[in-house]
Parts: sequence; C-alpha cells; structure tokens
Amino acid sequence: MHPEHHLTHQSPPCSRRQRLPPGPRRLPIIGNAHQMPTELPWRILSEWSKKYGEIMHIDVVGRPLIVISSSKAAKDLLDKRSAIYSDRPHSVMAHLIGYDETFVLQPYNDNWRKQRRLIAQDFAQSNTPRYYSLQEKEARILVRNILKNPSSLFSEVKMRIGTIIIRVAYGYYIQSPDDPILTIPLTAMENFSYATAAGNFMVDFIPAMRYLPRWAPGAGFLKVAEKFRETFLKATSGPYEWCKANMETGKTLMPNLCGTILQEAGGELSKDEQEKLVWASSSVMGGGLDTNMSSALTFFVAMIRHPEIQAKAQAELDAVVGQDRLPAISDIVNLPYIRAIIAEVFRISPSIPLCVPHAVRQDDIYNDYLIPKGALVLPNIWHMLNNPEVYPNPLEFIPERFNGSDAEMEKVKDLMFGFGRRVCPGRYFAEGTLFAIVATTLATCEILPALDTNGEELIPEFAYTSGVITFPKSFSLRLKPRSAQAAVMLAEVSSAIE
Ligand code: HEM
Repeated sequence: MHPEHHLTHQSPPCSRRQRLPPGPRRLPIIGNAHQMPTELPWRILSEWSKKYGEIMHIDVVGRPLIVISSSKAAKDLLDKRSAIYSDRPHSVMAHLIGYDETFVLQPYNDNWRKQRRLIAQDFAQSNTPRYYSLQEKEARILVRNILKNPSSLFSEVKMRIGTIIIRVAYGYYIQSPDDPILTIPLTAMENFSYATAAGNFMVDFIPAMRYLPRWAPGAGFLKVAEKFRETFLKATSGPYEWCKANMETGKTLMPNLCGTILQEAGGELSKDEQEKLVWASSSVMGGGLDTNMSSALTFFVAMIRHPEIQAKAQAELDAVVGQDRLPAISDIVNLPYIRAIIAEVFRISPSIPLCVPHAVRQDDIYNDYLIPKGALVLPNIWHMLNNPEVYPNPLEFIPERFNGSDAEMEKVKDLMFGFGRRVCPGRYFAEGTLFAIVATTLATCEILPALDTNGEELIPEFAYTSGVITFPKSFSLRLKPRSAQAAVMLAEVSSAIE
C-alpha cells in the first residue's frame, strides 16, 4: 500500500450542512472580497482572529479561505492530518505564469514527492556542514563590504545570500551584482511574491476572467502574466543549463544540488528527471533567497535598536570564540545567547508571515466546524509568534524571553518554517547562513544607527513590507570595527571562487 494511502486521515463523516468556522459577515456573491486586506494582511487577520477565534472562515467570491491562528490548530491539521492538508491551491495567475510547475506550488502528488526527495537529501541536517565554509566566507565578505560602504547594506545582503544559494543549487559562483544569473532570478522572485499574494489578482477568485480578450477592461493581468512568464522561464533554465554545460569543463563547483544529481546519473537524465531537477533547483533558489535576506535585515534593525543586546552577545562571543579568530558555524552549540537572538529574529518577523498556502483535499471536520474540500488554508504564523498571550510584549525584541531554553526557541522555528509534509526543507541550511551573519557581525563590529544631516541618530522601526515574503522597510546603519584585529581578519578573507 502506498504510504500516503496508509496514513490518510480518516475524517469523521461530514455533511455539507455542517457549520463553517466563524468569520466576518459576507456580502452576496463577493463574500468578503471587499474586506480582504492587502497591506500587512497578517496583522488584520490577527485582529479578526481575536473576534472569530483560532479557525476563521473567509469567503472570497465563493472561494473558502480558512485562516488558522493558533499553533495547536495548525499542528492538529497541517501536521497530524498532513495526508489531506499538504496540497497547494490552484491559482490561475500562477498557472498562466508557469509557477504551478515549480516544486513549491506543486500539488501534493508523485511529482512533488520525487522533487522533495532530491531537495530533502541535499539539505538534510547531516549534509549541511559541507556548506559551512561557504556560508562563513560569504558572511565575512558581507561584513567587510558593509564596513567599507554602509549604504550597500540591502544590496550586499542580497548579493551574499544570492551567492550562497546559487552556489549550492548550481555550483555557480556569482562575482558581480549585475550577473544575470543573480539578477533575473531576483526579478522573478519579486514577481512571484507579487503574483501570489492573495488579493492582487481578481482572476484568482473569478477564474472565468482568464478568458477575457487581451484588450478588455480588467484583462491587464494577461499582459503581466506573459511578462512574468518570460522572466521566470529564463530564471529557471539559465542557471541549470550553465551547471550542466560546465560539469565537463570543471567550472561547475561541487558539491551542489544539480551537479550532484547529474553526476550520480553519469550526466544523463531522462527528460522527465531533468524537468524535476530544474523545478526542484529553482525552488531552492526561490525558497532560500528572500527568506534569509528578510531575517538578516531584521537582525540589523534589532541590533541598531538594542546596543545592550549587542554588548551581551559580544561578551558571550569573546568568552567562547575569543578575539583572535572569526566565529565558525560549529561554535553555535556553545553560544546560547546568539541562538536566542536568532530565535527572536524569527519570532518577531517570520519571513513568510502567512506561510505558503496549503489546500485541503477532502472535506474535514475540526472542532465541529467544516473545513471544505479545496479550501485554501492559511496558517497565520505571524499571529502565532506575536500573540501576547504566548509571547508577552510581542513587538519588543527580547532574546531573554526564552530563558536560554532551546526547547522554547525550537517552538518558534517549528512554526516559522511551516508545517507537515510541506515544512521548509532548507531550514537547517537557512539557520547556518543566518548564524554565520549574526555571529560574524557581532564578533567584529559595533552596529550603530545612521546619522541624519544634523548628526541625530536615525533609529529604525520594526516596519515591514507586504507580500508573501515580508522585508524590513528601508533603513540605514553604521558599522564600526570592534578592534583593529577584527578589521584585519575581515580584510584577509579571500574572495576567490570556491
Ligand atoms: C529564514 C529562511 C527561511 C524561511 C523562514 C523559510 C520558510 C518556509 C516556509 C514557511 C515554507 C512553507 C512551508 C509550508 O508550506 O508549510 C517554506 C517552503 C520551502 N522552502 Fe523555505 N524558508 C527559508 C529558507 C529556505 C532555504 C535556505 C531553502 C533552500 C535551501 C528553502 C527552500 C524551501 C522550499 C523548496 C520550500 C517548498 C517546500 C514544499 O512545498 O514542499 N527555504 N519555507
């Protein structure tokens, strides 16, 4: 028997008369479409959950959306009943652009399972140490470059995290921020975030709109889809073709996801296997870039706001690592306060606040409510991690709230990286990258606020953009080396291709 069938959750029999979960009052036909928030929707949904509870039903032009606002309900459904909650919703816009081919949006099927295996193996916790030296090196170059030019913070974070992820996905080492192997996927990611954010395209709620002629009012989405598709296909095929073509020339740096699989297959993959690998690797690139970037930027905001936390972290680093070498990822086990800072970064701003939507495959009952087949299921991760009943003063950055308990920190990560069978496969790798950035910056620099023209300090707020992946809004900083030796150690880091 197939494991999926074996594990299928046996829902109690349910009738369509069963009550849907509570939610805001609906209008005829459009339901709650007019109320759907587009600005920081996780915050508005969080407010609504106070009124309607941990499971909320929203109707968008007849399409049911179930918002989950408690970790218990999220785990009960998405983890424990994962056999029926692991689908992704069908989106017309995603289909028109081609995103539904990608692993991250694949329905829960055999194709998804095979791609998941490829990725899960390469980024399994036991396999991540082989990328430590790359993550450490890029973190050091990042700090060195921001020290030189603090205004490059955003572009440098993007460049270094992009370099890491493209190196591990394709064995290609980015050397310039203008390299199309970096810039095209970055544009594709921006498009993805925009096109898949609930509410940006009405065609996702009124699928018949896809048959509108191109010139018709309201058909502008067709042109957008065409443009996004072109960029997306280039972003997906370009790096893969490079990796494959350069396996023989030796330019492809090993190990990397595509190279390892091509090597194991003796360079010959069937058309079907090749397609799976192309979509799997492009999802690694897409999944690992903006998410990590968002967390790294949140870390900088938090440190500018909290010199006292920096000082405490630096005392820990000095005691454990000393000042004669730069921190390594393997130091993480001896640095509980740094681990708490990272957990607090994840808590205060989970990079995908509403998760990637799941979809439920069959009618289900939870706490007497009907979760109808095909409903979009949105776990409000942001609310779960910013609920004052669980995390007092949630908008304050307080690493001490975990009392040094790794079990408490783990609870944050268990939510922030998603659920069930779709849980983020890059989780351990992502933590390595963030640790390298956090520990290297704190060990070598004071992180200071930028100054305005009057010499006044500019303290950034925890203010975020909307979209599937959220980022801190633009801010500036200053970095000051903690010692001459720290500056020398950073200057000595090689930028050679490895
Ligand atoms: C701070 C960094 C990251 C965060 C917060 C994050 C978070 C998430 C979340 C919330 C999901 C959706 C899980 C669900 O549907 O329940 C996800 C999926 C995914 N992530 Fe990550 N992620 C991060 C880094 C990475 C990295 C570094 C990689 C690649 C190495 C990666 C690859 C993926 C992929 C491929 C999926 C799709 C999984 C599937 O649909 O089966 N992510 N991630």
